[in-house]
Amino acid sequence: MSNKPSLLTVGLEPDIERIINDLLEKTEVVTIPMDVDQLMSEVSPPPCLVISGPPKEGLSGAELAQTLRMQYPELPLFLVCNAKSGFERKDFIKNGFTDAFLLPMDTTTLRAKLSDELAKASNGTIRVFRPVKILDVTAEEPLDFETSIFMPVNKRYIKTSNKGDAVDQSLLTKLKSSKMNSMYVPAEQMQNFYSYSAKKLRDMGSKATLSATEKRDKLASSVRDLISGLFTEEAASFESGQAMLKDCGEIVKSYIVQGEDAEWYSRIQAILGERGDNYSHAGNVSTLAALFSMGLGIGKPEDMALAGLLHDIGIAELPGEIQIKAPEDMTPQELEIYKKHPEMSINMIKLRKIIVPEIVMKAILQHHELYNGQGYPNGYFGDRICKEAQILALADKFDYLTCLKEGRPYLSPSEAIEHLRRLQVDDPSKIHYQPDLLKRLLTLFPGGIPTPTHNP
Ligand SMILES: [Fe+2]
Repeated sequence: MSNKPSLLTVGLEPDIERIINDLLEKTEVVTIPMDVDQLMSEVSPPPCLVISGPPKEGLSGAELAQTLRMQYPELPLFLVCNAKSGFERKDFIKNGFTDAFLLPMDTTTLRAKLSDELAKASNGTIRVFRPVKILDVTAEEPLDFETSIFMPVNKRYIKTSNKGDAVDQSLLTKLKSSKMNSMYVPAEQMQNFYSYSAKKLRDMGSKATLSATEKRDKLASSVRDLISGLFTEEAASFESGQAMLKDCGEIVKSYIVQGEDAEWYSRIQAILGERGDNYSHAGNVSTLAALFSMGLGIGKPEDMALAGLLHDIGIAELPGEIQIKAPEDMTPQELEIYKKHPEMSINMIKLRKIIVPEIVMKAILQHHELYNGQGYPNGYFGDRICKEAQILALADKFDYLTCLKEGRPYLSPSEAIEHLRRLQVDDPSKIHYQPDLLKRLLTLFPGGIPTPTHNP
């Protein structure tokens, strides 16, 4: 045990410590306070990565970085902090940190980076596993990633197949009959898992031997599988829920990239990144809208992914004080300005000469229209609103409800679905979404379809 490399944490806040421990089931974590003497002493077992809290106890950022660098010249040094004041990522990196993260916003990125770096820095001695849903896995099919299952009783991962091998049939049967619905893939092999899942989805949609209904059913059930990952125990915390949504996003991206003419996807991600837009919201909506489209057989997933990325691009053109407010906190005048953002998104797309299909423009323009005619910008009523816009609106709503916003509670995915379910009302004046579409969408979520119990 003791020759295993450890992770060194320096002066972390308890909630950050929790996130890190949660990620690293079996890694030895050595914790020291932020104190110069302690920083200069040897720790045992030797660390392979250092995570530090923000500088304190009379240390400046530069001094902290230099002290750590002197002691650990070769190691990845991460700085993690949860207060905005004094957080300048660029400065921390300039001082010698490998990277710096501000929580809770950067949690997903931190988890991903940590998994990668730990696996690399420990030469594979430390393994980080990610829970996944493996779509349509069969016993004959070799998988190009390793799989494991997790035994909660003794908190151990047990390898179920090597990279390049198929999963054993008896194990698959056991997994199906037990409640164990996740398998685990080593973090460094996740890319292979994304490509596998995307290929499965593509194959399902194009299989010549399947009828249109069979294709739709199969896709719906796979999307249901993917979405159910957001509702499992592993996704109980906001951070892991977001990590799972990000995994779905990688699958969607891989799905699109396997199609023709996929260059635009990365190009648009780059545009959003360089503009500093709220990428996590755009990315989440894009993922959800593409999944909803696949699961319901409405529109093209690639169009919906594109609409998701671009739907709020116009918000960045609004005055700064409006951008940071939630619509319900705006003054009537501010709200009037905010309501122009769908049109501003369209203008921005034209201005940047981003070429998108007409239906994508329509969905973006109509993403705040409501079925009862009370939406904006045009107050369209009923089926005048295109289905693609309604799917986009539902993805937007789901992400809005489950996102972490300063000063307001966020809903868990299950609570968000309950919220959507309550929107199915009989009073026509209160209907926000096309009733049949909302009903079908809810079947993609766990609990949405009545599960057959037993045959009498
Ligand atoms: Fe919007």
